Amino acid sequence: MQILIVDDSRSSLAYLARITTDIGGCGVETFLRPSEALQRCSETQFDLVLVDHVMAEMDGVELTRHLRARQPYRLVPIVMVTSDSEREVRRRAIACGATDFVNKPFDPIELQARLRNLLALRQAQTELADRADWLAREVAAATHDLVAREEEVIWRLARAIEYRDGNTGEHVSRVARICRLIAEAAGLDSERCRIIYLAAPLHDIGKIAIADALLSKPGRLDPAEMATMREHVTIGARILQNGSSELVRTAELIAQSHHERWDGAGYPDRLSGTDIPIEARIVAIADVFDALCSERPYKQAWPLERAYAEIVAGSGSHFDPACVTAFQSRWPEIAAIMTGSPAALPAISAA
Ligand SMILES: [Fe+2]
Repeated sequence: MQILIVDDSRSSLAYLARITTDIGGCGVETFLRPSEALQRCSETQFDLVLVDHVMAEMDGVELTRHLRARQPYRLVPIVMVTSDSEREVRRRAIACGATDFVNKPFDPIELQARLRNLLALRQAQTELADRADWLAREVAAATHDLVAREEEVIWRLARAIEYRDGNTGEHVSRVARICRLIAEAAGLDSERCRIIYLAAPLHDIGKIAIADALLSKPGRLDPAEMATMREHVTIGARILQNGSSELVRTAELIAQSHHERWDGAGYPDRLSGTDIPIEARIVAIADVFDALCSERPYKQAWPLERAYAEIVAGSGSHFDPACVTAFQSRWPEIAAIMTGSPAALPAISAA
């Protein structure tokens, strides 16, 4: 425990220092000038302050007010020493934040007893604050572990879906990162961007219920096969429905609506414009763009520039124009993701 004493009378200061030193177990620093005491308070944390009421440079009330304005001194016991026992002085002392006051002349035994009590209070405050800090750190660590585990499960599930679809995980990884870039550029808050980044990889989860023959069919699908393939969106939404977390609820929205079109010509609900959840509008762009750039049994991979032009051409018809603008604004980073530039490849589990 460190005690600060401020009194512009040299003899009073020495007397108070002797009384407080006799308490034992405490460091004591004394100051004749309040301004120097305040300066010292900026450098170190005192646990108890003893301040004279009447001082020439700055009175005890003013000094107490200055200390209380500082966060580290918000709760530190401050005792005002006064030779005036009038109610008005006491009222001002308490109003400005003093914890207690003592009247001169005081009994050293009584003063020591009161200071001991206040030091015990301070000790309890400090231990409580340390405990609260420790608890906050523990909760943060536990939350971090939970989030990390949730992310890991998502990525492993997404990779399982990709294998089912004949790929090895790169498609969902690229789509997730492109979605995050578009979401950021569209002005979504950081937590929303994180959720989209993690929910996007599950957009085709419904494909696990589609027959192998259909998923791996070389050549284009006939209308009946196309109708069956389109069921992957409602199946995916059913797999994810009634999620208990915002992440799973967002993944359900994306699974359900990532094939809707801005002009209402998509499926399964023919939603249009902003009736389509923003998360699904973002995934629609990333999913189509990456599919265009990828080789399929029925087509060659398109060059990046051609796929970019296709997305821009679909603004206002297939895609949300604002999301296309966001896509264009992050093009250098998106192109780097597609070409495998190391600078654009954050760890897959990084949020
Ligand atoms: Fe899909």
